[in-house]
Order: sequence, then structure tokens, then C-alpha cells
Amino acid sequence: VVAAKIAPSMLSSDFSNLASEASRMLRCGADWLHMDVMDGHFVPNLTIGAPVIESLRKHTTAYLDCHLMVTNPLDYVEPMGKAGASGFTFHVEVSKENWQELVQKIKAKGMRPGVALKPGTPIEEVYPLIEGENPVEMVLVMTVEPGFGGQKFMPEMMEKVRVLRKKYPTLDIEVDGGLGPSTIDVAASAGANCIVAGSSVFGASEPAQVISLMRKSVDE
Ligand code: DX5
Ligand code: ZN
Repeated sequence: VVAAKIAPSMLSSDFSNLASEASRMLRCGADWLHMDVMDGHFVPNLTIGAPVIESLRKHTTAYLDCHLMVTNPLDYVEPMGKAGASGFTFHVEVSKENWQELVQKIKAKGMRPGVALKPGTPIEEVYPLIEGENPVEMVLVMTVEPGFGGQKFMPEMMEKVRVLRKKYPTLDIEVDGGLGPSTIDVAASAGANCIVAGSSVFGASEPAQVISLMRKSVDE
């Protein structure tokens, strides 16, 4: 089995206290910090970019799992690398032509490449990126339409996770959107091991309990 990585989505944190919110999540048992970068174009929302990642990096050595919801991910590789991003996950919908170059540059900047897909994108579209000679190291299956926290989990997406897990037993498979105590079991049993959770963790009175419950579900 692939190890669980619980990644609170900092999109649901108090951005004005990002460093303390990050250390609070790490104290609560988070493995990764999920950072949602949006450009107001690929998705109808605008969040943070490399300057904010760079500021946060000064306060933590944690793995920063960056999810690039942007139309031109190639433009972000260099700044995100400099800023101290750990993982760089781009969307397949905007990378059909240049994913090989993207993956190469991400690795050259010392980051771990991942590919994400929106709910409407068929899972077959990521196969070439996993099977090539320069493969991505994680697939992020979106379980809501990207853009906003607090949306409802789409259980129909679990078929994508099951198919991926069957085909790639050791691949990191991440799910993002609507994950929490009531949806973790279906995601974990489908085969997801990297769990992004924003509102369910930040909205909890005891985030540590939510994180450990989700970890248990994946590890079981
Ligand atoms: C949505 C983002 C998610 C979001 C998840 O576009 O990619 O990471 O923060 O938030 P919840 O867990 O509240 O659905
Ligand atoms: Zn995300």
C-alpha cells in the first residue's frame, strides 16, 4: 500500500496569518500543506502565487503541495521553484502540447511533478504522462470543479481513482474537493492515498481528530 499523505488546503485558512495557520496544521498532524494557486482565468477565482509561497517557505520546511489552476503552467515553473515549492501539479487540460517540457523543467527546478484533471476530463488523458520516460509522480483527481473550497464531493469520480489504482499500484493518487470524515472512506477504498481537505479540517473544532481519522481510513 502507498503511504497516506494528509494535506490540509490552505485555501481555507486565514490568509492574513498564513505562517501560524501552517504551523497549526503541522502540529495537528498534517503531512503536506496544499497550496491552491489560481490565475482568475483557468478558474473563476484568484488566490495566491509564487510571492506568497516564498513568504511561507521562510517559516516552514514542510512539503508544499502546489496545485496550479492556471492556463499557462510553464510560466510558473521557474518562479515556483525559486519560491520553494515542493510539488508542482499542473492541469492536463492546458498541457496537452507541452507536458514533456513541463515535467522536465519541473524536475530540473527540484520539484516533484504531478498532473491534475477536472471532473469532466477522462482518466485516459493522463496515461501518457504516467507511462512516458519522464513520468509525473502523482495524479490529482479533482472531486469538485476547481476554483473554490467548500463544495460537495462528487462520488462519481471514484471510478477514475479505482481504474488508476488498479493500473498503477504504487502511484501517488490525490483527491481534492469535498473530502472529510463523511467522504474519506469511499475515497480511501477506491485507492486514493493523498488527501486534500480544506473546509472539513479548518472548520473542525479539533482538526487533529479529523486528520487522524482520515489517515486511519487510508492506512486500513
Ligand atoms: C478547489 C481546490 C481545493 C479546495 C478544497 O479548487 O483545489 O484544494 O481548497 O477545499 P474543500 O476541502 O473545502 O473542498
Ligand atoms: Zn487544490
